[in-house]
Amino acid sequence: MEVVTSIAAVRERVRQWHRERLSVAFVPTMGNLHAGHVSLIEAAARRGERFVASIFVNPMQFGPNEDFAHYPRTPREDEHMLAAAGCHLMFLPDVAEIYPRGLEASTRIDVPELSRILCGAFRPGHFEGVATVVAKLLNIVEPNCAVFGEKDYQQLTVIRRMVADLCMPVEIIAAPTVREADGLAMSSRNQYLTAAERGIAPRLFEELSRAAARLASGERDFPALEGAAVRALESAGFRPEYFSIRARDLELPRRDARDLVVLAAARLGRARLIDNVQVSR
Ligand code: PAJ
Repeated sequence: MEVVTSIAAVRERVRQWHRERLSVAFVPTMGNLHAGHVSLIEAAARRGERFVASIFVNPMQFGPNEDFAHYPRTPREDEHMLAAAGCHLMFLPDVAEIYPRGLEASTRIDVPELSRILCGAFRPGHFEGVATVVAKLLNIVEPNCAVFGEKDYQQLTVIRRMVADLCMPVEIIAAPTVREADGLAMSSRNQYLTAAERGIAPRLFEELSRAAARLASGERDFPALEGAAVRALESAGFRPEYFSIRARDLELPRRDARDLVVLAAARLGRARLIDNVQVSR
């Protein structure tokens, strides 16, 4: 595996592969890789003859009071994991390589509406930062396909919308959420949990699963399901931000909708946990 830090080096390598008619798959990450990331890498390896991963903790997607400075950074371990997974190229840019004009003066991409709801309502500017950096990374790497996790369902939806609206020539692939044995979705931010909080954390997935099971069995009082889940999370010690039943495109669902997704975000101690479960009837 080759490790490069410049846009020019990525372009040179990938363009050579395209000349050789090799297909290129791409997995963007913020590093501190865990088994959830590895599953994306495996999906990418199945899709492409060559695969590229990026590791970049993107300052534009963090709010002023969020954890940008403290976000876990483990580039050496990440490099070993990527090499072991069969990655061909690791792109590890610094902030000046991605934002040479600084954050404030850089062009931004806004996906309206979708970026303002759910997590977007609690993290103003977050999805603008995500859309902007993903657009830049896709333009730098020029992959045939890029893989994103369903763990971040709203992020996946925002990226699909951006790619469609901007006619970007890339296929977006979704990979299922990888969980710990007790159901907690794997996340770099789980490290912020104390031992006691780690014991409580699986309740988030339990409440999502409970709501999904009731929807699957025909329950249609969405506000009642959402309210019960919020109360259950509060009494378990979470500070829920939202618990919401949506159509798969994140619109408010019609009562007779068959395909739904239940999404939640909740704070637990220092950590902000998000998760979701898709359900069909
Ligand atoms: P990061 O949180 O590092 O996640 C990188 C990718 O891994 C995302 O597509 C995310 O959905 C996926 N992922 C994380 N945990 C997962 C799990 N438990 N199971 C399956 N997939 C999982 O998401 C980002 O970085 C950034 O916003 C990024 C897209 C790289 C833009 O900066």
